Amino acid sequence: MHAIGVDIGGTKIAAGVVDDEGRILAQTRRDTEPDDVASIDAAIADAYAELSAQYPVQAIGLAAAGFVAADRSGVLFAPNIAWREYPLRDKVAALVGNQLEIVVENDANAAGWAEFRFGSARDVDDMLTLTIGTGLGGAVVSNGALVRGFAGVAAEVGHMRVVPGGHYCGCGHEGCWEQYASGSALVRDAQAAAVAYPDRARRIVELAGGRADAIIGPHVTKAAEEGDELAVHLLAELGRWIGEGAASVAALLDPAMVVIGGGVAAAGDLLLEPARKGFAEQLSARGHRPEATIVIASMGNDAGIVGAADLARL
Ligand code: BGC
Ligand code: NA
Ligand code: ZN
Repeated sequence: MHAIGVDIGGTKIAAGVVDDEGRILAQTRRDTEPDDVASIDAAIADAYAELSAQYPVQAIGLAAAGFVAADRSGVLFAPNIAWREYPLRDKVAALVGNQLEIVVENDANAAGWAEFRFGSARDVDDMLTLTIGTGLGGAVVSNGALVRGFAGVAAEVGHMRVVPGGHYCGCGHEGCWEQYASGSALVRDAQAAAVAYPDRARRIVELAGGRADAIIGPHVTKAAEEGDELAVHLLAELGRWIGEGAASVAALLDPAMVVIGGGVAAAGDLLLEPARKGFAEQLSARGHRPEATIVIASMGNDAGIVGAADLARL
């Protein structure tokens, strides 16, 4: 049976028709406004109209970047989108007609589920997926099952405190892991470095059209791939934060694999090697226990779509 998966980020949605084997048969995207939640509903309905005209579908999975209710009907809270107790399922149902099964999933849970079912983690029973984008998302599969917690909001690892009194976070606290291990953190640090060290940041700023405030993640990745020293350093710091935090998660969950996904994962080894190093340095009982392997996600940008569709069918 075919289902539509919709990956809802801060500034765009990506939607696709997905078959039982996790293959995307058709795909589309729309721009959205993070502060205008109705624009997100409308974009979803629009994408649904386009895709359902091409394939008959029986369910829609909505992967949302926020704390998702246990009954999968909506979003309780989102740090980077203006959802507060938002009944996303009913809002979308009202626009598309309600003969369809619609379920809301956390975006990282959806992406991690896709990696577990069809991607990098398909051969393990215990895994942690981290999605590194605007925020830092987490998905935990333990003993073959997605861990949801009692209220549906388990695996919100981005909001574990890693720096007492650290950077402010959209969740209302300070020092959350997300403020150090996300695409937003990378951009914040790259922009700050461009102001503080204009010489060292010359290539990154050049890629951003000469404007420090226009730097985005792909500029840093591109510069790093060319061997630019500051860019390599910025990605290495991000990787270190990812690896060190993953070691703390391993103290709780003992995953066989840590999968790194999200846009920043495109940096590949520039991120992965420092993450492995940070993980190794902070893992307790190292040398006396089997260790998780740390890998880059294999489903790329499609993971959220595929996982949301698959979870909507379950
Ligand atoms: C949110 C999560 C989300 C993650 C990735 C975090 O800020 O709290 O719900 O999964 O960002 O989008
Ligand atoms: Na999650
Ligand atoms: Zn937070």
